[in-house]
Amino acid sequence: MKVLEIEGLEFSYEREAVLSDVALEVDDGEFVAIIGPNGGGKSTLLKLIMGQLLPDRGTIRLLGKFPREARNEIGYVPQNTNVNLDFPIRVLDVVMMGNPRRHRESVSWWERLFPVRYNTAEKRCAYSTLEKVSMAEELGRRIGELSGGQRQRVMIARALCAHPRLLILDEPTSSIDIDGQKKIYALLKELTGELSVLVVSHDLSVVTEYADKVVYVNRRAYTHDLRHNPIHLNTPEGEHFCEIELMQMLAEQNCECELHGGKES
Ligand SMILES: Nc1ncnc2c1ncn2[C@@H]1O[C@H](COP(=O)(O)OP(=O)(O)O)[C@@H](O)[C@H]1O
Ligand SMILES: [Mg+2]
Repeated sequence: MKVLEIEGLEFSYEREAVLSDVALEVDDGEFVAIIGPNGGGKSTLLKLIMGQLLPDRGTIRLLGKFPREARNEIGYVPQNTNVNLDFPIRVLDVVMMGNPRRHRESVSWWERLFPVRYNTAEKRCAYSTLEKVSMAEELGRRIGELSGGQRQRVMIARALCAHPRLLILDEPTSSIDIDGQKKIYALLKELTGELSVLVVSHDLSVVTEYADKVVYVNRRAYTHDLRHNPIHLNTPEGEHFCEIELMQMLAEQNCECELHGGKES
C-alpha cells in the first residue's frame, strides 16, 4: 500500500488557486524532497496532507485513510527558525512532548501542560529515539544551548516518539550550516529503513544526494525520480547549479513530457 496518494488536488485560500491538479505518491521507505519558489504552495500542500486544511477538489489518502483519520501516522518537524531559544526546556522534555501517552486522558491536564515526571518506560522510549538521532548524551541540556542542527535532530526524535509511518519536515535546515544539514539528511536517509520521509527544502545540492524523488511545486507539482534520472549538480567546471536553474530544468522536462504525452494520446 502507498503511504501517501494524492490525485487531482485543488486548493485555494481565496479566489486564486494555490494548488491545481496536483498528483503525488510516496511509497513505503521513500525519501521525497519538495522544492519550489516562495509562495509556490509547498507549506499549503503539507497542511493539506496533515489534515489542517481541506481540499476543494481531489483526494488525499494516507495508508488508505483520510488525513484527519491518519494523524497518528504522521510525524511533523517544524521549520528550524520557529523555536523559542529562551524557553527553559531540556532536550528530554522536548522529546517527551512527542510521546502519545502524554496526550491520553489518564494523564491530568496539569501533567499534560507540565510533563515533568516521567516513568521508566517513557524515559527508555525517549532515550532510544534520542540515540537514533545521536543526541542521547545531550538529554539533560537546555535546547537553547544546542546548535541549530542538534536542535533539529531533537525535534526529529520528538516526532519519532509516536512511531509515525510518514515523517514530514518543512524547511528543517534553514539557517543551519552545511555540515549540520548533511548530518540531518543522512539521518533522514537512515530513517527511511522504517518510515517514509517528505521534506520541503531549499538545500538542493544536499537534497539531490539523498532523495529518491524531487517534487517541484509551483501551483502544479512535477515529480522527478532521481533513481531513474539522476541530476548531477556539479558542472564540469565544478560550479554548483543554482536552485533556479534546476527548477527550470525540472519544469521544462516535465512540460516536454506533458507535450509528448499530449501528442501521443
Ligand atoms: N492562511 C493563508 N491565507 C491566505 N493566503 C495564504 C495563506 N497561507 C498562504 N497563503 C498564500 O498561498 C500561497 C502559497 O503559500 P505557501 O503554501 O506558504 O507557499 P510556500 O510554502 O511554497 O512558500 C502564497 O501566495 C501565500 O501568500
Ligand atoms: Mg513554506
